[in-house]
Amino acid sequence: MTAVDTLVQRAGFPVEFDGEEGALVTSAPLVFNRVVRTKADIAKVLVDGGGIPDDTHLYWIFQLADAGADQQRFEATETTYACVLLPSRKVGREYVKTQGHYHPPMPGTTIEYPEVYSHLFGDIYLLLQRRAGQRPEVIEDFVILDMKAWGAVTIPPGYAHVLINASDAPAAIAGIYATSFKPDYHPFVDLGGAAYFMVDDAGESLIPNPRYERVPRLRRPAPGSDPAFLAPEGAEQLWTSFLENPERYAFVADPQAALEKFGPMKELT
Ligand SMILES: [Fe+2]
Repeated sequence: MTAVDTLVQRAGFPVEFDGEEGALVTSAPLVFNRVVRTKADIAKVLVDGGGIPDDTHLYWIFQLADAGADQQRFEATETTYACVLLPSRKVGREYVKTQGHYHPPMPGTTIEYPEVYSHLFGDIYLLLQRRAGQRPEVIEDFVILDMKAWGAVTIPPGYAHVLINASDAPAAIAGIYATSFKPDYHPFVDLGGAAYFMVDDAGESLIPNPRYERVPRLRRPAPGSDPAFLAPEGAEQLWTSFLENPERYAFVADPQAALEKFGPMKELT
């Protein structure tokens, strides 16, 4: 089986990625909008400028714009699908990463919107951190998941998320999330990034971000070992799994379904 065949299996639709040019190639009726994130866009969360031009592309987001006949399934559930592609790149000694963000609470609840990520190809880490109430400088839980090993992950309410590619090849994931919110980037901008940075120090090394007041020891749960991050069954092929049964993913957009899955969250203080 060729790499492209494998990816079609994984994605659930015919798609090719170009991890050098930052392109996603698919065929009608599927349409994706491409969003570029440059070094300048995420400068505030980088360890340093790394001496590369501000307009260097660091990663690309491909947001579903039209799913053809399946579009109605996404719209009916106020859900959408996107892919994130990271090239093999470093900014100075820091491995390429996404900006990182939290999600706001779902309407009428204290449950912050969850999300589901699914591995497409390459070696890619997912960093997750949960803050103490409204104090973003105090972290209660910090987790690194190997996306390739996990396959698919639920990002539970309250966890900010960052993707890192520390490998020598491009890597990508797909995600399912609600259309009704905007990510909150402020805590990461204010604190200069997540609670840990991954840098090349003769190999992968995690260094704490000194701007945080309190950070627990990071955890690296083995695939499937922490039920909090388990994805719905079949989420390894996220596209197909969603279209076969959108109800399985109702918790990403529907507050009632999220309440049933996650229970009432403690009040934010
Ligand atoms: Fe997100």
